Amino acid sequence: MSAPTGSDPRVEQAPVTDEALLDSHDKLLGRQPDDKAHYRLLPLNLLFLFSGLIFFAGTYLGRYAGHFHPSVFNEHGQPPKAGAAVAVAVDPLVLGKNVYGQVCAACHQPNGQGLPPAFPPLAGSEWVAGSEERLIRILLHGLQGPIKVKGTEFNGAMPPVGPGSGFNLNPEKVAAVLTFVRKEWGGIATPVAAAKVAEIRAKDGTRPPLTVADLEKIP
Ligand code: HEC
Repeated sequence: MSAPTGSDPRVEQAPVTDEALLDSHDKLLGRQPDDKAHYRLLPLNLLFLFSGLIFFAGTYLGRYAGHFHPSVFNEHGQPPKAGAAVAVAVDPLVLGKNVYGQVCAACHQPNGQGLPPAFPPLAGSEWVAGSEERLIRILLHGLQGPIKVKGTEFNGAMPPVGPGSGFNLNPEKVAAVLTFVRKEWGGIATPVAAAKVAEIRAKDGTRPPLTVADLEKIP
């Protein structure tokens, strides 16, 4: 019988490292290797980069996207021909109300009642409800001297407001403001046409302010 040497392979355990031990435990427990353990976070700079891009894109769209208005993105739209007027449909009553507030209301008052003794009323005025030819000419040439409106005598000076005047309203605006005052206080629904204003303007040219005597010669 030999003395035990301490090297009996059945007694001595195979040398085991910690990793090997954990590994075999993982196998026994059926754990999957954790691949993601080696992933790293994205660099923080990318966050700044993308925020910057989003900010830039937002600013760019805000500036150049035309508020996503349909006319801007109309793929069937024709580009306006050089020199041609761009036809924009504007409600004459809206435009007219605007012009009235900017030009006429100072004298004829916002409610159209005028301000005696200087400024005659437009509301209920026989001149507003009367001849279109006269009405257009009052605005194109101005009016001075005594005039009777709704039975009251006024005597002031109305400046011309049409093209070339201090107010320089184009025919479209002159027509729109007359359409507005007629509808608003005269109950006349037929609009005054810008073409009519332009036609009278071309025919008359510029001339000194009218008087009632001049108006009465106009049909
Ligand atoms: C600077 C003041 C002034 C402005 C601005 C003015 N008017 Fe007059 N308007 C007068 C005066 C004053 C008369 C009367 C003129 C006279 O005595 O002969 C008059 C007369 C008239 C008349 C004929 C009389 C009547 O009451 O119906 C009409 C129509 C008229 N204005 C419309 C307008 C319209 C529309 C505007 C704006 C586009 C306008 N006026 C802007 C001062 C003004």
